[in-house]
Amino acid sequence: MKKIITVVNQKGGVGKSTIAQLLGNALRHQGNKILFIDLDLQGNLSYVLGIDKALIGSYDILMKEARAEEVILETEQGHLIPSTASLVRLDTEMQDIVGREYRLKEGLKPILNSYDYIIIDTPPTLSTTVINALTASNLVIIPTQADIYSLQGLGQLANTLDTIKLYTNPDIEVAGILITRYDSRTILTRELTEIFEHTAKELNTKVFEIKIREAIAIKEAQALRTDLLEYQPKAKVTEDVIKFIEELEL
Ligand SMILES: Nc1ncnc2c1ncn2[C@@H]1O[C@H](COP(=O)(O)OP(=O)(O)O)[C@@H](O)[C@H]1O
Ligand SMILES: [Mg+2]
Repeated sequence: MKKIITVVNQKGGVGKSTIAQLLGNALRHQGNKILFIDLDLQGNLSYVLGIDKALIGSYDILMKEARAEEVILETEQGHLIPSTASLVRLDTEMQDIVGREYRLKEGLKPILNSYDYIIIDTPPTLSTTVINALTASNLVIIPTQADIYSLQGLGQLANTLDTIKLYTNPDIEVAGILITRYDSRTILTRELTEIFEHTAKELNTKVFEIKIREAIAIKEAQALRTDLLEYQPKAKVTEDVIKFIEELEL
């Protein structure tokens, strides 16, 4: 096991599930064994990996109703612990459990040696589910769009990460803020760049140099439920992804 990486941002639509999929696939192409974990009720990551309407998955691990080996599915893009409809109940059901923050970490222990990387996709919240992901992870990636609305919630995320460091996972590291869905025709204003830098400082991290552009190839690959790196190996956005992996320096 090399690393457990969580993709997080409590805002929806910023590219979390997309980055989780791309990251996992890029690492798989480097010869790594990948396990994806979908913690989002929406199940977007599960869907693009070819799985929908799974009956058991991440919920059952968090509730200790199943062992990880029992819920792992094999897909063409890697192994997956899928999202299920029962995730809708999770936060309420975990509310009174002592040690609830550690459920995912505990659940993954028996299978850590079977994978090089575990990639966790999270819902657009800062709920117990997300706390579980952050508690279990070594590294965090924060995708965001290059607009002020996408940045506004990140102060709250910084507070959550501080709490995680203090209580459940002192060694967690934020790899950086990744600008996604980037329109290469727009110029980042000086003001926005400054706010980005400031936010990164608050999170003790950096803004990645590379940005992932907005590209139709991403949507096409997802609609076909396939891997962008195989579907469009020469596309500009695929180059962005490969450069991102290099900059990530895992
Ligand atoms: N680089 C990109 N280019 C084009 N579309 C993108 C890109 N990144 C994400 N999308 C699309 O934007 C929408 C939101 O992305 P998603 O990864 O689901 O965000 P989140 O998981 O944060 O809600 C999806 O329809 C996805 O296909
Ligand atoms: Mg998502």
